[in-house]
Amino acid sequence: MEKNFKRTLITSALPYANGPVHIGHLAGVYVPADIYARFLRLRGEEVMFVGGSDEHGVPITIKAKAEGVTPQDIVDRYHAIIRDSFAELGISFDVYGRTTSETHRKTASDFFRKLYDKGEFVEKTSMQLYDEQAGQFLADRYVTGTCPHCGFERAYGDQCEKCGTSLNATDLINPRSAITGNEPVLRETSHWYLPLDKWEPRLREWILEEHKEWKPNVYGQCKSWLDMGLQPRAVSRDLDWGIPVPVEGAEGKVLYVWFDAPIGYISNTIDACGDDWEKWWKDPETRMLHFIGKDNIVFHCIVFPAMLMADGTYNLPDNVPANEFLNLEDDKISTSQNWAVWLHEYLKELPGKQDVLRYVLTANAPETRDNNFTWKDFQTRNNSELVAILGNFVNRAIVLMHKYYDGIVPERGELTATDREVLDSLKRDAEALTAGLENFKFRDALKAAMEMARTGNKYLADEEPWKLIKTDPERVKTILYVAAQICGNLCVAFEPFMPFMAEKLSRTLKLKELSWDMLGSDSIVAAGTVLSEPELLFEKIDDSVVEAQVNKLVEARKANLLKKWKPESVKATVDFPTFEKMDIRVGKVLECRKVPKADKLLEFKIDDGMGGRTIVSGIAKFYAPEDLVGKEVCFMANFEPRKLKGVVSEGMILSAQDADGRLVVIGPTVAVRPGSSVG
Ligand code: MF3
Ligand code: ZN
Repeated sequence: MEKNFKRTLITSALPYANGPVHIGHLAGVYVPADIYARFLRLRGEEVMFVGGSDEHGVPITIKAKAEGVTPQDIVDRYHAIIRDSFAELGISFDVYGRTTSETHRKTASDFFRKLYDKGEFVEKTSMQLYDEQAGQFLADRYVTGTCPHCGFERAYGDQCEKCGTSLNATDLINPRSAITGNEPVLRETSHWYLPLDKWEPRLREWILEEHKEWKPNVYGQCKSWLDMGLQPRAVSRDLDWGIPVPVEGAEGKVLYVWFDAPIGYISNTIDACGDDWEKWWKDPETRMLHFIGKDNIVFHCIVFPAMLMADGTYNLPDNVPANEFLNLEDDKISTSQNWAVWLHEYLKELPGKQDVLRYVLTANAPETRDNNFTWKDFQTRNNSELVAILGNFVNRAIVLMHKYYDGIVPERGELTATDREVLDSLKRDAEALTAGLENFKFRDALKAAMEMARTGNKYLADEEPWKLIKTDPERVKTILYVAAQICGNLCVAFEPFMPFMAEKLSRTLKLKELSWDMLGSDSIVAAGTVLSEPELLFEKIDDSVVEAQVNKLVEARKANLLKKWKPESVKATVDFPTFEKMDIRVGKVLECRKVPKADKLLEFKIDDGMGGRTIVSGIAKFYAPEDLVGKEVCFMANFEPRKLKGVVSEGMILSAQDADGRLVVIGPTVAVRPGSSVG
């Protein structure tokens, strides 16, 4: 269903203000949303790009408790960090609000109250998990336990992060309180539920019939939810952090965070434009888009739309271009394991490189499936794409115009077939770029923009104006005129992706106001324009920079593991005779070598005081064989002989993990006669 819209409201998921944002958030949500907003603005469309912090919910109170501060302290701290780092990255929100604002409290309360008064909720009494020691109900992330779907042992009361299933706390097997670690009891409480089942037929029709154009990952997730059948969903919680349920007798109850947070999009719109806000939410000629990550799909495609339907006066989203997840160095990004690249740290450690990050995250965007960020790839894309192709072309073209014509764009002469082909190819790339952006295929769009730079690079390399300047100076004017048009096209084409670079380039080219209809044009930069000196667009990134980043990641994860490390629990008791059955001895390593075709195994010749023996041990990853020769080690002497990769091993060398998780051999601290018993 193609509709003609007058304006577009773009929302981006409100990040929880319980920590900074990382590259996974950026690649999944904020960079694509910003690209899209900038694209529409360049087209001259009326746009409102809404962001803000999600400041309620259990993760925030858990963090506050862990640090011994108030939830308000936590959200104040992270709201500021997130807001400022987004701004520095050039995410061009029209408003960045917060769900602890007065506007939001009122908007969310009124929203609830209207549905309550219309009889849209069902009040139900049920048994909920309760922590007797903490004296509180355990909702959502206050409970962990085993996921009933996939068996993951650390699933939360609202969602299993392993299989993505959304859960109720009472679904968990072996539930535990996240506050005390105790096993919760069941206690009666009552809550308001939004009967999603009531809206199921309309949701089915709206998504499955009217929005077949949604991305397959989004459509598919919605379909499987709808096919499972929708249940009423509680919209209140027994917590003390949140927006109080605006109903008599609801003391101690607040709105569920997933009820209040999406209303935050409305509140923030109100903050941005006061009474005018309704046109963004209720005028059928406004198109609404939600940019989110895949873990938010059900809330934005089913729950929030059902809330809007229940109110009855709102538009529904026209599209929800949700992304999959970004991995980091081939591992899942994990906040709890500190395996992440944090935006505020990136900005500090790689100053002036906002565009590089935006570029790399777009080139690797997890649009259709999970994707991977590596620092090596970051460096390669910077050095061999941004520097070697885009930066190189623009710099060459502008430097040559300064050198030959004092920086004045020359008049062109007759165009050759090559010139025309180059200019035509800009038009084709511009079309591909536009189509990519319109269809939320940002990677394809970026490729099309980069194609223009490749064309420019090749054009100069083939035409060699630096040679022709001696033999055919007239021809050089035309070549550099064409090159100037390519520069102008690049400036517009890359603005949504790399606004800082576009700003510099537009200063050099004296392009006052960029607009999308300049794209594909063969006369963006008029002859006679006096160019400024070229500004440095990109610089090479050295190995040392990316190596330092990888080290930092590894160290952070190590420190984190160490902080959380606990010894394994002690095994079942054994009696002395059982202990005595183990014959542990000291031996001296005479020889040590790698076992061929086995990357984990080392083969030892041990002086055991009894004529010597061979032992194979799986510690090749942690030692160079020669470093072990001469060492005294403990080994189990009566371990059943086993054949490993063709070598018979007559015992087992004892080892333990060091602080970095590496295996180290265990031996006596002073010299001991080979063959001595340990006991
Ligand atoms: N805070 C949520 C998250 O990080 C997203 C909330 S989006 C909103 O997953 F719509 F609820 F605001
Ligand atoms: Zn699961």
